[in-house]
Amino acid sequence: MAARIENETDLAGMRSAGKKAATVLEMIEPHVQPGVTTDDLDRICHDYIVNELQCIPAPLNYGGGGGQDPFPKSICTSVNHVVCHGIPTPSKKLKNGDVLNIDITVIDNGYHGDTSKMFFVGEPSVLAKRLSKVTQECMYRGIEAVRPGARLGDIGHAIQSHAEAQRFSVVREFCGHGIAKVFHDDPQILHYGRPGTGQVLEEGMCFTIEPMINAGKRNIKILPDQWTAVTKDHKLSAQWEHTLMVTADGSEIFTLREEEQL
Ligand code: MF3
Ligand code: CO
Ligand code: CO
Repeated sequence: MAARIENETDLAGMRSAGKKAATVLEMIEPHVQPGVTTDDLDRICHDYIVNELQCIPAPLNYGGGGGQDPFPKSICTSVNHVVCHGIPTPSKKLKNGDVLNIDITVIDNGYHGDTSKMFFVGEPSVLAKRLSKVTQECMYRGIEAVRPGARLGDIGHAIQSHAEAQRFSVVREFCGHGIAKVFHDDPQILHYGRPGTGQVLEEGMCFTIEPMINAGKRNIKILPDQWTAVTKDHKLSAQWEHTLMVTADGSEIFTLREEEQL
């Protein structure tokens, strides 16, 4: 069953969840400093989500089964060569020049808002800045391809062609996903593909676009903690994510932040 807005209640629910998830990224920004641990960031976000927003942090105890342990923390913190699903830990102290993705998913009155962005600790390398910028552009290009009648392959192609034109690579093991009352629903939103192929988009569909782009090769491996995905070549990876809905003339982004002028 694909995630879809059925009525005004669903629309209001997704708008609220998306706005709240975006607020967490805005709140955490000043805390991303040298010497802070990813576990500190997790605790600050957890408390804000639960106490201020009165929401549930969706990652906490998510997944598991089939031999995999559930995700143990409330946010994902993916530093430098970590592609996604980095587990916050007191042993990971941020240092000048680190770049990281913080991925927030809140459950607000049963609806999910899922969004992530890149943060710089102090002054990043020229490559890190370029990778982050290009990855954000990939996400926006994917979003610009969204409208009724477009196909999923159009989104993937928009992302892949921009990344590869910059000689970066697209991670294939993870994708965007339908989202509303279910965290990870159909359809899968691949971040690569051929134009004019794949499922046709219809007004009301809700999903994320969340490209993971690598500075080196696209290959990844999963660490023994069963969650953390890293680049095989240990080169940098970046990710940005929004939750959106297909509208009559394009899309509505539920997780927009104040800083984004679109
Ligand atoms: N927020 C991630 C996504 O964009 C999923 C995190 S699941 C977790 O889909 F268990 F790793 F937290
Ligand atoms: Co997502
Ligand atoms: Co996410």
